[in-house]
Amino acid sequence: MKIKKSAFVISAVSPAQYPQDALPEIAFAGRSNVGKSSLINMLLNRRGLAKTSSTPGKTQTVNFYDIDEIFRFVDLPGYGFAKVSKAQKATWGKVIETYLKSRENLLEVLQLVDIRHKPSQEDKQMYAWIKSFGFNGIVVATKADKLSRNQIAQQKKVIRKELDMAPDAILICISSSERTGKYEVWDLLNAIFEA
Ligand code: GTP
Ligand code: MG
Repeated sequence: MKIKKSAFVISAVSPAQYPQDALPEIAFAGRSNVGKSSLINMLLNRRGLAKTSSTPGKTQTVNFYDIDEIFRFVDLPGYGFAKVSKAQKATWGKVIETYLKSRENLLEVLQLVDIRHKPSQEDKQMYAWIKSFGFNGIVVATKADKLSRNQIAQQKKVIRKELDMAPDAILICISSSERTGKYEVWDLLNAIFEA
């Protein structure tokens, strides 16, 4: 897909603030610091469009990005960030849940996990949630540049097992810093749009 124009639209916490139209949306979910915003930037060839940070908890709202006015990427708040209060965690959880549950525009959710780590309890819950809302359960393992080929193969098995992924569920490995996996993700997104 050749992208001509991508632009930030709005940061929302409640449905009243979501864009009010029918553009299809692809959402990116995953724990804080996993690389959601970095993946969005890599896919769009835009270095600073989605704000990235080495400080976890950067994205706390549902952020909408319009792409060529034909579809949208949605950067969800990162979960699992230890240094926030219980109340704050509950609020984020609600923000994510409300979006996933109520958004008619939402075509698919990509769940990101860090290839280096065994999925956390929250990753498992998020994945189960995504599936319970009727989505396919596509997983993107990030930061593949941090591991060797053998380690990647090993961790893919761990991720599949821990998330209890279906045998035919898609798992793509990427590196936003090395810019690998980009075309695999685009192929997948194109297939979703065409379905
Ligand atoms: P929140 O907004 O806090 O939920 O985080 P996020 O999931 O959007 O993560 P973000 O894209 O901001 O990336 C977090 C940190 O990881 C940044 O320092 C990125 O540079 C780094 N990072 C992201 N993707 C990769 C990757 O593929 N490889 C490496 N080595 N670092 C990455
Ligand atoms: Mg972010």
